[in-house]
Amino acid sequence: MPRALVTGAGRGVGRALSEALAARGFDLTLLARDEAALGAAAGEIGARFEVHCDVMAEDLADPAGLERAAVAAREADVLVNNAGAGLGRWFGATEWADEQHMLALNVIAPARLLHAALPGMQRRGFGRVLNVSSVAGSGPAWQGATYGASKACITRLTEDLAYSRAMRSSPVAVTALVLGHVDTEFHERAGLPPPPRLLTLRAQWVAERAVRVLLRRRPPVRYVPAARYHVLERALHHLPHRLMTLPHLADDLSRSADEPRRPAEAPGRSAEEPSRAA
Ligand SMILES: NC(=O)c1ccc[n+]([C@@H]2O[C@H](COP(=O)([O-])OP(=O)(O)OC[C@H]3O[C@@H](n4cnc5c(N)ncnc54)[C@H](OP(=O)(O)O)[C@@H]3O)[C@@H](O)[C@H]2O)c1
Repeated sequence: MPRALVTGAGRGVGRALSEALAARGFDLTLLARDEAALGAAAGEIGARFEVHCDVMAEDLADPAGLERAAVAAREADVLVNNAGAGLGRWFGATEWADEQHMLALNVIAPARLLHAALPGMQRRGFGRVLNVSSVAGSGPAWQGATYGASKACITRLTEDLAYSRAMRSSPVAVTALVLGHVDTEFHERAGLPPPPRLLTLRAQWVAERAVRVLLRRRPPVRYVPAARYHVLERALHHLPHRLMTLPHLADDLSRSADEPRRPAEAPGRSAEEPSRAA
């Protein structure tokens, strides 16, 4: 049986991606920090889809935990780099430890696991890697915060690798799953306001489509589920940055939970003050 390693598999998008892979017969290694949530997910997925589910309780922001995960990644036929987190505050107002943790989780961990997984995939003659990214990495939508930069990094790594000569002639494919808002605990945990319901996608819907394209003979390098996010993502890429950073638009896209909607409503805040980022 082919085996998939899914990070951040205990809930949210990772849990949904795990189910979509199990539905196609993949045995799974489910990785996150919360061992109880992983155990429950493994029990339910294993029984429902009749696949073998292992769990790995590891903190990917911890170098030792990441190295243990890298050992598992060497055996994976499919690697889903999904674990990630946001930090809903402006860069100048965060604790450095929180920034370091987020960069380790969103940038170092997926790069390390991808690096560990590739040689085995090449040798075995099959491999698929899904790097879960965000439209926040496609343009200046999260001004002044590191989350967008971390996702830009992982999208860019995916693209640079996928278009490299070695990968173009290889049986291994790397895809960036570029997400808009999804109905998970992501925003709450990052200290961000809940996203507008009309713009929020269901994790199962996203996962089903993502796994379908990932298992194609030639998966896309960048996949953006939902037409509205496809349009937004292209706009972030191609429209002038000056337009995408008009103060009201940028502030609404990037404010954190404890901030008012408009900069002018914030008492004592001058027009010159940089806009806070989510
Ligand atoms: N939801 C959205 O609107 C949205 C939009 C764009 C992109 N994304 C991306 O989608 C991915 C999945 O997020 P989600 O929406 O499903 O969020 P979520 O519900 O908060 O799930 C995050 C997952 O990552 C795991 N995780 C967090 N820190 C970890 C660590 N240090 N080590 C190992 N695992 C860790 C969590 O489990 P534990 O806490 O048990 O470790 C959980 O399983 C992320 O990469 C996120 O950036 C989400």
